[in-house]
Amino acid sequence: MSSPTETDNPGPPWPRARPRRLRRTAPLRALVREHAITPDRLVLPLFVSEVDVTLAEVPSMPGVHRWPLERLPEAAAAARDAGLAAILLFGIPAHKDARGSEASADDGIIQRALRKLRESGHDGLIIADVCLCEYTDHGHCGLLADDGTILNDASLERLADTAVSQVRAGADIVAPSAMMDGQVAAIRGALDAAGFEETAILSYSAKFASAYYWPFRDAAGGAPKFGDRRSHQVDPGNAREALREHAADVAEGADILMVKPGLAYLDIVRRTREAFPDHPLAVYNVSGEYSMVKAAAERGWLDERATVLETLLGFRRAGADFVITYHALDAARWLAESTD
Ligand code: PBG
Ligand code: ZN
Repeated sequence: MSSPTETDNPGPPWPRARPRRLRRTAPLRALVREHAITPDRLVLPLFVSEVDVTLAEVPSMPGVHRWPLERLPEAAAAARDAGLAAILLFGIPAHKDARGSEASADDGIIQRALRKLRESGHDGLIIADVCLCEYTDHGHCGLLADDGTILNDASLERLADTAVSQVRAGADIVAPSAMMDGQVAAIRGALDAAGFEETAILSYSAKFASAYYWPFRDAAGGAPKFGDRRSHQVDPGNAREALREHAADVAEGADILMVKPGLAYLDIVRRTREAFPDHPLAVYNVSGEYSMVKAAAERGWLDERATVLETLLGFRRAGADFVITYHALDAARWLAESTD
């Protein structure tokens, strides 16, 4: 008995669409593919630590490490060699206090890291995260009043000082993540006054109060000692509010916008792209999104490579120009090996 052919079952005689024509072979699929992910659209977050003397793997983020200062140039070189767009630096200081003094200290961990990378000849883009929560003993993103509430305007100067000290030490871009009202304007003003008019601000403009940051707190040790971040980060129920946050940051001089986290907020990515068609847009594929895939892949429940590349493509399709992801090095390697 011969196998069935299309002529045995010719289907309806009327003209009809045949989308499968263009899906038949890999070259045909490549010819009509609308979006692609490439290493130069990926940013790798790196944790540099004053506390760890050896490379320390973050327990809830397999494959992610806290780098001792001495070894940070290796990590930065790997990112550059893989063709990644940039690295995004977070610091883990040895000393914390109520004002987060080490965030803006000239010999703070981030400032030392930036100088070390520049001295080691690192010529890739370096973005510095600007927040106080890794540096305050209470773990909040700003200064606190006696009743434990966050003082918005008093925190602005701290954030601005931090950004200026980072740029002085060699940061190409500063990325304020504290979600204080007016932080972009305060940082822009301080940078300009210090003669850094040319340095760009990547604003965490729409940063939601998300449960997906949990592993990051394990990595950077910046969990709040009491309370949470819902008094300053965007409520997950709100989309229009995210657009107002972007608009405020644009008015204050943000050069690049961001939506964070990614997967649960793809509608925000799309709406941001449409509302701000002329602005560069980043999406932060956060720690919890990384850890979920890792955990499932370790159990053999997901194909990590296929899952990650599909997710990254989704961010691009939704409208992001680039993606900040802990999977950046893996993705670059997979893309280099990729045949389809
Ligand atoms: C600090 C900061 C956080 C992240 C980036 N910067 C944590 C938080 O706001 O609680 C989260 C990154 C991630 O989860 O990967 N403000
Ligand atoms: Zn913070």
